[in-house]
Amino acid sequence: MSDLVPAWWRDAVIYQIYPRSFADANGDGIGDLPGIRSRLPYLRDLGVDAVWLSPFYLSPQADAGYDVADYRTVDPLFGSVEDARGLVADAHDLGLRMIVDLVPNHSSDQHVWFQQALAEGPGSPLRARYHFRDGRGPQGELPPNDWPSIFGGPAWTRVADGQWYLHLFAPEQPDFNWEHPAVADEFRTILRFWLDLGVDGFRIDVAHGLVKESGLPDIGHDTSWHLLDVGESPCFDRDGVHDIYRSWRAILDEYPGERIAVAEAWAPTLSRVAAYVRPDELHQAFNFSYLGTAWEAGAQRAMIDASLAAMSAVGAPTTWTLSNHDVVRHTNRLMQAHEGEVAGKRPAAVDEAAGLRRARAASLLLLALPGSAYLYQGEELGLPEVVDLPPEVRQDPAFHRATGQDGYRDGCRVPIPWSGTQAPYGFGPEGGPSWLPQPDSWAGLSVAAQDGVPGSTLTLYRDALALRRKVFAGDDLTWLDSPAGVLAFERGGDFRCTVNMSGAPVTLPVPGSQLIASGPITVEDGVAVIPADTTVWWSL
Ligand code: BGC
Ligand code: CA
Repeated sequence: MSDLVPAWWRDAVIYQIYPRSFADANGDGIGDLPGIRSRLPYLRDLGVDAVWLSPFYLSPQADAGYDVADYRTVDPLFGSVEDARGLVADAHDLGLRMIVDLVPNHSSDQHVWFQQALAEGPGSPLRARYHFRDGRGPQGELPPNDWPSIFGGPAWTRVADGQWYLHLFAPEQPDFNWEHPAVADEFRTILRFWLDLGVDGFRIDVAHGLVKESGLPDIGHDTSWHLLDVGESPCFDRDGVHDIYRSWRAILDEYPGERIAVAEAWAPTLSRVAAYVRPDELHQAFNFSYLGTAWEAGAQRAMIDASLAAMSAVGAPTTWTLSNHDVVRHTNRLMQAHEGEVAGKRPAAVDEAAGLRRARAASLLLLALPGSAYLYQGEELGLPEVVDLPPEVRQDPAFHRATGQDGYRDGCRVPIPWSGTQAPYGFGPEGGPSWLPQPDSWAGLSVAAQDGVPGSTLTLYRDALALRRKVFAGDDLTWLDSPAGVLAFERGGDFRCTVNMSGAPVTLPVPGSQLIASGPITVEDGVAVIPADTTVWWSL
């Protein structure tokens, strides 16, 4: 990897792999690192710059690997550390960078530190690495404070000796106490372990959660948290968290090749998010405000402007995402989205053709924006959310703990269809299992079915990513006056993007030659007719 490429990450397209659902090499129904390794050429041909891998570390899988029992071991389910090393090396050979997930807010309850904390008992210094407290009430039978778990129920679980421990997520995910120096030391060592192995950076899980308001005060009122979408609270986005990221940035900067970190920080405002990407902190933060924006021209334009302004105020690039492993796929979500309601909601069935049309238009808009784009595996195939998984196959811990309003994350995690006419569609060996069932209707959506097919969603993404490398230089964006419900902007003086969100076809003068369109448009006598939910890129 050349060290001469300046700030590769500022406009990078980064593709999220959810390892258990990508490619299963050994046929146990769960995707693995050798499977990913065998599919790297697909990602090179797609044209992405980097890959982000969701966790593959040793884990009891209470939350699909976001409950880590050993941060320096690969779970045998996914392979070995040698497989990880080989995967990173192969990716580099293909010109792809590799980012891994770091889960510092909490460990698994099977982590040796937590097991020691339980064994040593109340008052032991080893308990201080987590948040153990006596309960309230005459017998300590009430949780120490009123914090709810994001996965439902109280954020506290009582152990056999009577004390309680804090877990903002599942009980199997105890929160670390980041005021304890051993925790900070341990994570600096973990960063170095993976940097030494060659990774190009980290996605920081729950980056806004590490530091809690000291004294763990009550929230004092009923909260209606949704998965990660939590707003102002004593549990999240405390100022002290930024010292941690300053110390991590210093470590990242010691390594050659611009190693990066991207924050999963669900903060109440864009300017609070921007604080995570100040020059001496992390490089990028996910733009969940944009992800939650309705498919409506005024709202989109305002959010794009606000995002660019907030990030450029600290000199950071803006990021754009429409899908990830925690939210309803944007094929469905953009048909039903209400602002601010994004994660883990019960998805509704939508007209799949209309949903796909809108999703393609949204993706082509996203890829035209200045900054860095995060794609989630399967969106390049136009995969819909699977809305009808029966409760008995669902594995999202939030589904089984919550009361129905949250916990619908399995529907975006269904394994990828690669080829063939029957499940598992090349995800694993023919006739083999897949950890979540794939719909019968997915044969036509497989990679093989779309490869080289004009008009397929895979072709649209490949063409758009190739154009993106050629067309965009700077990070300017200039809006143009356009009819109601239509967005139009130019970049670099010779590129225009037109998006029709008006709900009806629009007729516009042709501004130049068409580079690509998310759906069929007609051009005649200098006039273009752009159907509803369609995006067009033009060369001026
Ligand atoms: C991850 C989720 C996970 C949670 C707890 C989130 O940020 O993206 O998948 O359940 O953190 O680790
Ligand atoms: Ca496997």
